[in-house]
Amino acid sequence: MTAVHSPRLDVHLNAAELDAALRAEARRGLTTTPKDLPPKWFYDRRGSALFEAITALAEYYPARREREILADRAGDIAALSRPQTLVELGSGSATKTRILLDALVGVRTLSRYVALDICEEAVHDAGMAIARAYPGLAVTGVVGDFGRHLHRTARHGRQLVAFLGGTIGNLMPDERHSFYSRLRATMTGGDHLLLGADLVKSPGRLLLAYDDRAGVTAEFNRNVLAVLNAQLGADFHLDRFDHVVRWDPDAEWIEMRLRSRCDQVVRVPGLGIEVHFARGEEMRTEISAKFRRSRLEAELELAGFEMVRWWTDTAGEFSLSLAEAV
Ligand code: AVJ
Repeated sequence: MTAVHSPRLDVHLNAAELDAALRAEARRGLTTTPKDLPPKWFYDRRGSALFEAITALAEYYPARREREILADRAGDIAALSRPQTLVELGSGSATKTRILLDALVGVRTLSRYVALDICEEAVHDAGMAIARAYPGLAVTGVVGDFGRHLHRTARHGRQLVAFLGGTIGNLMPDERHSFYSRLRATMTGGDHLLLGADLVKSPGRLLLAYDDRAGVTAEFNRNVLAVLNAQLGADFHLDRFDHVVRWDPDAEWIEMRLRSRCDQVVRVPGLGIEVHFARGEEMRTEISAKFRRSRLEAELELAGFEMVRWWTDTAGEFSLSLAEAV
């Protein structure tokens, strides 16, 4: 573990551990049937930039909807939670965070912001930008995986943990339960969780949000192959895979997949393996679950959280829940 010091930003990263996780997960995902890669590995510098581009697309409503709710409710969130520390999981560019920080500065309890993201550049750039914009706020960046590294976000006083953007939908249902439980174990009664979750809606609207006309999401999807090329010396040809999106009506989640355009063998020297793809074979790269209030409330309760507020945008497309650790 190394700590990189600059005047007001501390970044904690453990590159060797992240690299080991990528290897283990890529090995499992490329050798299991059907092939299946976890979505966290989209986010190198380019993947994070592509996701930012997605949030600006007309088709990708979640980012705008969540921003609308935050703008309306940030004052309520601040007054109800009155945190000393704001912890943000999957902080990315932390642009929405500023809406929260502006309101939290108003209640005068906040002294610390902790950003955790898997993308080192995002943690560094966003951390520096927040540290500059909010002098007097102690800013800590943690490069890691919110599924594994929650314990690295040091605790200071009453906390508000923000998990925004609908990223909770990237976890499988069993992973969601262990995530909520482990998160609860890092919190104290009276702390709050602010959770952004996308809602079930018409499949047409959902499919377009993940298959935009400009092809940005397709590029984002293929970026996981570029990450494997860079990190493991693999020789994936990105143009030999098609972007595929499906809505699973039973599980109520969107799936992104990459479909092999031909029969091909990919070498992955970093893992010492060769991987065969049949023509038409599909590898899952992401699930993005969509929620209903009852399910969110029940899952939170099972892990020791009580939902104290539930807000949606005016169109009812996206939700923000404020839950209290009980
Ligand atoms: C960043 C995980 C919330 O699931 O909607 C966007 C990622 N994938 N387009 C999502 C994503 C395809 C996004 N999250």
